[in-house]
Amino acid sequence: MPEQPEQPSSNAVPVIAEGTTLGVVGAGVMGQTLIRGLLNSGVVAREQLWAGDKNGFACEKVARELNIPVEVDFQARVATAGLILVCVKPADAPAVMSTLRSAGLRRDTLLISILAGVSTNMLESLLGTDNPVVRAMPNTPCIVGEGMTVVCRGRNASQADLERARRVFEAVGKCIPLDEIHFNGVTALSGSGPAYQYLIMEALADAGVRVGLPRQLALTLVAQTALGAARMVLESGRHPASLRDDVTTPAGCTIGGLLMLEDGRIRSVLARAVEEATRIAAHLGAAPQKISESASSQRAGR
Ligand SMILES: NC(=O)c1ccc[n+]([C@@H]2O[C@H](COP(=O)([O-])OP(=O)(O)OC[C@H]3O[C@@H](n4cnc5c(N)ncnc54)[C@H](OP(=O)(O)O)[C@@H]3O)[C@@H](O)[C@H]2O)c1
Repeated sequence: MPEQPEQPSSNAVPVIAEGTTLGVVGAGVMGQTLIRGLLNSGVVAREQLWAGDKNGFACEKVARELNIPVEVDFQARVATAGLILVCVKPADAPAVMSTLRSAGLRRDTLLISILAGVSTNMLESLLGTDNPVVRAMPNTPCIVGEGMTVVCRGRNASQADLERARRVFEAVGKCIPLDEIHFNGVTALSGSGPAYQYLIMEALADAGVRVGLPRQLALTLVAQTALGAARMVLESGRHPASLRDDVTTPAGCTIGGLLMLEDGRIRSVLARAVEEATRIAAHLGAAPQKISESASSQRAGR
């Protein structure tokens, strides 16, 4: 169940306190997207933002494009941060957590992770401090400001911390708080979801070509139809089956097409795809643990 109604967060809670900074560790695709969203929405002032990445070449390029400090040696900035967004790959989580700890992370700094499959429990134990932790699962349409992000809080994070996280992700789309137990399903449905939608759109565009439409036109028809249908579902609040009935005239072409989709078992194929992705999502978090276990074995000389 959502922790609270699906309403936008309260902007009474500032994302970071005055005099502190917001750091983004991992300035790749998602890190850059979130920085752009934060800058465009004005949720955080440019002077309060910085990023760190281990790739020096990428740092220079991103710093130039976003006009904020992006550094390989970001450790000195960690102690100034009121919020750190961790946007590295799951396998890099142990290294980043250890860097943050040894760089003097303040005890009240909120850590938000977007790492797929890495639980709040695991983040807390990798960090080894009592810092508040929020886990988020965004998706790539954040790039165009139409992202879908789900957030949950770890054991030391308060409702206010969750609201701060919501404000970050609302800068790039919608954000809903949800119990962590549902995160594997969320990863499969909205995290991986854009890929399913692209596949379906590609197949429909091919179908348009098959019946004689130029490819680019077919793709535009399909994409705009998907956008319009999505808005109908979100804005009307009606069940998709009821909206579908509006398009389906007796003995018309739509019912003929729908029956062909049912013959192809489209419902069970989609359900099985999400079921399989959920199963895989449940194992994604295993990698950081294995890495950190092998690191501690090495430290112990085993
Ligand atoms: N893309 C999606 O659809 C999506 C959706 C939801 C969640 N996520 C999550 O978002 C996270 C980031 O994904 P992404 O696609 O943005 O990845 P990405 O483009 O590879 O960006 C990650 C960046 O972090 C850098 N990095 C690695 N280790 C570091 C360290 N120790 N300190 C500082 N920087 C470090 C990487 O440098 P190198 O390239 O040199 O390693 C890279 O530039 C992943 O955990 C993923 O699970 C992604």
